[in-house]
Amino acid sequence: MFNSDGRLQVIRAVAGLFLFLSLLSHSYGAEGPAAPTDLRCEYLSNPLGIDVREPRFSWVLHHAARAQGQTAYQVLVASRAEGLERDAGDIWDSGKVASSDSIQVVYAGKRLANGETYYWKVRYWDTAGNASPYSAAAQFEMGLLSRDEWKGQWIEGDMLRKEVTLDGKVVRARAYVTALGYYELRINGEKVGRNVLDPAWTTYPKRVLYTTYDVTRRLRSGKNAFGAMLGGGWATLGARFFDPEVGPYYKAPALLLQVNIELEGGKTVSVASDGSWKASKGPIVSDSVYDGEVYDGRREIPGWDQPEFDDSQWSTAQTAEGSQGVLSAQMMPTIRVIDSMVPVSLSNPKPGVYVFDMGQNMSGWVQLRVEGPAGTQVTLRFAELVYSDGMIDRQNLGAAKARDIYTLKGEGRETYEPHFTYHGFRYVEVTGYPGAPNLDSLRGRVVHTAVGTVGSFVASKQILNDIQRLIHWSQLTNLFSIPTDCDQRNERQGWMGDAQATAQEAMMNFDMAAFYTNFIRDIRDAQFPDGSVPDTVPRKYGGVPGDLGWQTAYPLLCWYMWEQYGDRRILEENYDGLKKYVAFLRSHAQDNIYRLHWEGDWVELAHTPGDYIADVWYYYDVSLFSRMAQILGKSAEAASYGQVAAQIKDALNRTFFDAKSGNFANGTQTANAMALFLDLVPKEHRNAVERNLTDDIVYAHNTHVTTGFIGVKFLMPLLTSMGRSDLAYELATQTTYPSWGYMVKRGATTLWELWQEKTGPAMNSQDHIMFGSVGAWFYNALGGINLSPESVGYQHIRIAPQVVEDLTWASASVDTIRGTVSSSWTHSPEFITLEVAIPVNSDGQVVIPTEEQMTDVVIREGDRVVWENGHYVSGDPGLTGATREGRNIIFQVGSGTYSFRLTAGE
Ligand code: BGC
Repeated sequence: MFNSDGRLQVIRAVAGLFLFLSLLSHSYGAEGPAAPTDLRCEYLSNPLGIDVREPRFSWVLHHAARAQGQTAYQVLVASRAEGLERDAGDIWDSGKVASSDSIQVVYAGKRLANGETYYWKVRYWDTAGNASPYSAAAQFEMGLLSRDEWKGQWIEGDMLRKEVTLDGKVVRARAYVTALGYYELRINGEKVGRNVLDPAWTTYPKRVLYTTYDVTRRLRSGKNAFGAMLGGGWATLGARFFDPEVGPYYKAPALLLQVNIELEGGKTVSVASDGSWKASKGPIVSDSVYDGEVYDGRREIPGWDQPEFDDSQWSTAQTAEGSQGVLSAQMMPTIRVIDSMVPVSLSNPKPGVYVFDMGQNMSGWVQLRVEGPAGTQVTLRFAELVYSDGMIDRQNLGAAKARDIYTLKGEGRETYEPHFTYHGFRYVEVTGYPGAPNLDSLRGRVVHTAVGTVGSFVASKQILNDIQRLIHWSQLTNLFSIPTDCDQRNERQGWMGDAQATAQEAMMNFDMAAFYTNFIRDIRDAQFPDGSVPDTVPRKYGGVPGDLGWQTAYPLLCWYMWEQYGDRRILEENYDGLKKYVAFLRSHAQDNIYRLHWEGDWVELAHTPGDYIADVWYYYDVSLFSRMAQILGKSAEAASYGQVAAQIKDALNRTFFDAKSGNFANGTQTANAMALFLDLVPKEHRNAVERNLTDDIVYAHNTHVTTGFIGVKFLMPLLTSMGRSDLAYELATQTTYPSWGYMVKRGATTLWELWQEKTGPAMNSQDHIMFGSVGAWFYNALGGINLSPESVGYQHIRIAPQVVEDLTWASASVDTIRGTVSSSWTHSPEFITLEVAIPVNSDGQVVIPTEEQMTDVVIREGDRVVWENGHYVSGDPGLTGATREGRNIIFQVGSGTYSFRLTAGE
């Protein structure tokens, strides 16, 4: 596209702009600390309806100077915004707390009350003891903290309504709403909120999540109408798809709602779902997550969600037992319509059959725009693929009908979007359209859980950017309140293996903290009494107990939450559950070997024995548990589980290692990579095993992977830790089969389920995230952004970009819980530049690799020389030292932005 100088200029310009913008947005004081930003309470900026009695606060610090941190903080929590403005924390004034904690600070004020809104802000003292200004105020609000607060009953019906007269001005109103299935809440003729496919799918009999809406402005003095449409969602889906044992949770969807209203003068009114509501059939003829929605516009009931509607013909809503499980606040981003897509082309492969191409495999649905006679039926069928004749290919959808059918009202221009289904598709076949549709007749609606994007990765090699784009799409389209395997066929399940394999990638790209917090609780809810956990959560599919590569999601996700977000509470809350899980593993192991397995290295090309893989997981899980015990201060348990892990390691070596050949199990890439990654290999054999692994990749397979998605997660970071990022890079940029690049070259816009392009209809999803684990390697290895060993929550950061082969630049940044960490480098035979940002209250090591031919190097930071004649040159603010380790020169840096330039000696 442009020459290397041009690239350099672009990078510089981007970096400069970044700096300029951050200066602008943080309004630095002359030299001192600036007000904290990005205030979070339980991982959300302004959460409405949380049910954590002692929520945790996190904030991001800013400072004009380098090497700055927090020596103390003060948090104020107030019951009124005005109080906070006067710096009065009537609910909690932490006082000046001497602490460097700027994340996960646990609330310690007065008991937080049901439904109350609180306002909070924070300031900090820097390393010199200067106080920052207070941050802007953020708020959080408590939900309904106990079941007793819920006054309503579960009620059933397609469309439900209730009219209420309020005699006074409404000063505050909150709607707490949930459903077994999906709901759309309407007040006085309008949809409330932007959530779709709400609430999250949970193991409903154990737990249902409610959403809180501020509906103050929707209510008025006088008559008000509340309405709800219900869909079956995951609650009623089943009979055709699942074993009876895990079949439909319920026969019909149900609603539970409560609106708490405060009127002027202090009077309070509660509107709750109960037998006084009215019910009717509505325009939705049928709805199913897998099959789609059938909607008859002629059955719409105008005005049903408005006051003064005559519902005398409606029946009385049926109360239902519903779920007696825990009602928990939904404290994570919800599913939303994120974007609209214009189709890129339209074809007419057969008379009356129109096929729209969205240009991108996506999750969601389409908005249909149509005009025609009443009763005309338009059918939309969704597909990821097309045949060569242009007709849609739906062989890979399994039993999912994946279609929406709309019957026209015949009242001029009509638009239709389904309410309670979603599809995974790139192509939409339209039949029955009155007249000929054009590109304006459809709009793609991109739908998924609305997690924020926190990461970016770009590099000079286009194929990497293409793969990154596929990962982005595959990851997002597989977030539907739980992490799913795919979004199109009759699965879309919380397959735990897929979840654990890709969680690290997901956490670099997106703000996953609240999402995984919720999912980990889902896992806990799905845990069996014997301590094992299922293959899928909530449990619908898979083996019982799950394969260990799937069950391991329980300890691994907890561990990643600890690493990425410094979340100690998640370790505390799951300690007992994990202990039970480990006990289950131990009770099924014989002579320290756990052999039970189903999936093994799923979708592998070279088979690795499943009992070996299971046993490696066993070792991994027990060692992690021992480390968690240590972190929580349970030293005796840590030691005893550490011993168990050591015994498993011995048994693994005795049983699966062949010292003669230097191979674990049958010596596949997966077998040796897992052993090396987990440091199972006796020291004296490490070189041999490493050589076997790289020989297998390079010579036996012409630099291609043979792993499934389990093996590849280990393989890429392992190669980097072995000093073979060059080889990992070749795998990552490979474009022949099997590789990620092959998918790109074959026109994929999301990652496939298999390395193979097409094997047969059954397992041929075009949108699986599980191979997306390589995305973490992009950030860690090519971008160079890593946690320092033993550090969590980005307190200590290691910037160590792997400057490889023909890659001339790479740029990565992640908005971590402590602030933005970024690393951008350029490389030519004569120089290396590296721009780094370390957040305030963090520090780092910056590892600058030298080229072999660069015997005597000079490194400048800005315009100061910081390394010369083989030594560190002190004096640059923020740097505290540097050493050479092999070919790397490693700088110790405090917070701030740095611009290193390494040149061959002059
Ligand atoms: C899913 C996978 C899953 C696997 C395990 C498949 O059908 O799509 O992603 O991990 O089953 O059995």
